[in-house]
Formats: sequence, C-alpha cells, structure tokens
Amino acid sequence: MDNVAANAARPGEFWTYTLQLPQDRRAVRIARATTRSVLLAYGMAQVSDVAELLASELVTNALRYSDGPAWIRLSNPRTQHVRVGVWDSNPTIPPPFHGASHPTGPPEGAERGRGLLLVRECADRWGGYAVGEEVFGMCGKLLWFELAA
Ligand SMILES: Nc1ncnc2c1ncn2[C@@H]1O[C@H](COP(=O)(O)OP(=O)(O)OP(=O)(O)O)[C@@H](O)[C@H]1O
Ligand SMILES: [Mg+2]
Repeated sequence: MDNVAANAARPGEFWTYTLQLPQDRRAVRIARATTRSVLLAYGMAQVSDVAELLASELVTNALRYSDGPAWIRLSNPRTQHVRVGVWDSNPTIPPPFHGASHPTGPPEGAERGRGLLLVRECADRWGGYAVGEEVFGMCGKLLWFELAA
C-alpha cells in the first residue's frame, strides 16, 4: 500500500489544525511547512503544492494588511478535501471575497494584486466572512479556500 492510501482519512473522520502566527516574516514559511506537513500526513500530497502556495498568499496578506497576529486553520470539510482558513484582525474583506463582483485581475503591467486572483483561479471553492467581536472576543475576518485531493 502506498503512503497516500495508507494515510488517507477514513470517511467520517474529521480533523482540524490551527496555528497562531505572529507578525514575523518567518510566519509565512512556517505556515507553508505546516500546510504541507498536514496534507502529507492525511494522504493529500497531490494538492500540497497548490495548498502551500495559496496559503502563503493569504498568510502574506494577513500579515501585510493587519497589524495584529493572525492564524491559519486546516481542516477537512469532506473526505479527501482540505479547507484552509486564514484569520486576521483587519475587518476589511477584500473584494470579491465579500461577494461583490470584481474585475478578473490586476491591470496589465501591475506589479501587485495577483495573490487573491491566484486563490480564486486555483481553489475549488473560496470565500470570506466577518468574524464578530462576540466570537471568543475576536474581531476581523476570515478568508478561506478549499481543494479536493
Ligand atoms: N487580509 C487582507 N485584509 C485587508 N485587505 C486585504 C487583505 N488581503 C488583500 N487585501 C486587499 O486586496 C488587495 C489585493 O490583494 P492581493 O493579494 O491580490 O494583491 P497584493 O497583496 O496587493 O499583491 P501580491 O500580488 O503581492 O499579492 C490588496 O492590495 C489589499 O488592498
Ligand atoms: Mg497579496
């Protein structure tokens, strides 16, 4: 039996891993490594490259556009699926993650503005929602994506 099959989560088996991230450049690398490690452990190595890349875009943004800590959470909403959620303390939900329509990408020649486009293009599902202050005393928002392995 190969490792992928041996490690795959059984139907009905659900898991969640959460990693708190400080405002530190090293946090992006650590979030990537954690994402890879969790996906390898649960037999989803096929999507670990993409998941790592998209997770690093969301984590980079979380650290760049907020001044507080952030966290990344990996879970499996369904068997052989991974959901990656990244929370930060800035309440602004960038379009189109709050549901508004948005141009397909950055203007030609722009040096920035590709991170969220990459998430929208590569993920199977994605979205964002506000996190109210009443939830564990936290505020801000959570952006998420899902991949099927
Ligand atoms: N976590 C966030 N909180 C608040 N605003 C955000 C967040 N993430 C993205 N944004 C807004 O959405 C815009 C687009 O983000 P996106 O990641 O696509 O591009 P970028 O960060 O500007 O450049 P790059 O191509 O280097 O990722 C950002 O410029 C910022 O204004
Ligand atoms: Mg970005």
